[in-house]
Amino acid sequence: MQKSEFPTPEPRPQNLDPGQGRAARVVVARPSGFCFGVERAIKLAKQGKEQHGRVYTLGELVHNPLVLEELEAGGIRKVTRPERARDGALVIRAHGCPPKVLARCRELGIRVIDATCPYVRKVQDVARRLTEEGYLVVVVGERNHPEVRSILGQTSGKARVYRPGMRVRARKIGLVCQTTMSRDRLRAAVANLSSLRYTELRVFDTICGEVTSRQDAASRVARQSDLVVVVGGRSSANTSRLAEIVRQAGKRLVFVERASELAKAGSRIRQARRIGVVAGSSTPDWVVRDVAQRATNLSKEDRR
Ligand code: F3S
Repeated sequence: MQKSEFPTPEPRPQNLDPGQGRAARVVVARPSGFCFGVERAIKLAKQGKEQHGRVYTLGELVHNPLVLEELEAGGIRKVTRPERARDGALVIRAHGCPPKVLARCRELGIRVIDATCPYVRKVQDVARRLTEEGYLVVVVGERNHPEVRSILGQTSGKARVYRPGMRVRARKIGLVCQTTMSRDRLRAAVANLSSLRYTELRVFDTICGEVTSRQDAASRVARQSDLVVVVGGRSSANTSRLAEIVRQAGKRLVFVERASELAKAGSRIRQARRIGVVAGSSTPDWVVRDVAQRATNLSKEDRR
């Protein structure tokens, strides 16, 4: 886990008035920017492009529109079915995919660049092993998220996705979770399933360390801010989780994908004295810097 670079808060004058021409203090949560798995997937896709000419990604490589725009500009396009990648190589994204997709690629003779994040692969391996050992695998995660589908695929469709109050009839349950889940959700699922009688419960905390460190940083920054800007793709699970953490801390929230969207939140930025910036693991560092700079400028402009 990376060491937090969140700066120690500086003493502030008690009577600081937003109307005195001072910019808000903008604090960026650390770590931010791409996680290891996303960075690796992008690198593999770009290398694939150099080596094979035509490269496609099965679904969005990253849940971030700016990154997708950049990849498209470089000739790396998304397809929804392996059949569409017959004339090139197909990148399996960091979320992984069910084994039947890989089997289909083999059948079609498609060259595969497997960018499944090694941490996701570990969850897949655990789910497969538990199924082989006779456990009913329960996945704490979002039913339709590609990562969850890739985990379910390892159990020949036998695993179930957790929901509160679910009825489970099994002597042995193996619990795993989507790498981007919050620890609170995992705890709640464990507490719930532990209450089943005569049932063995094995729990695998498969939350990614990169996710945990970002969630901890988001919660630290939220505590110390009046307003928090969450930066990331609207379809990104880990970015949505950060927004949830900020809301739970009872702080005002602005969700943006890019710096230009901040203009719409001008009045809220004007009112804030301390602004936190947190970003999901699929958000490039340059976008985070851009947002922090724009927030500082906006708050200065508004306070003149
Ligand atoms: Fe992998 Fe963790 Fe990123 S599981 S894709 S390193 S958030």
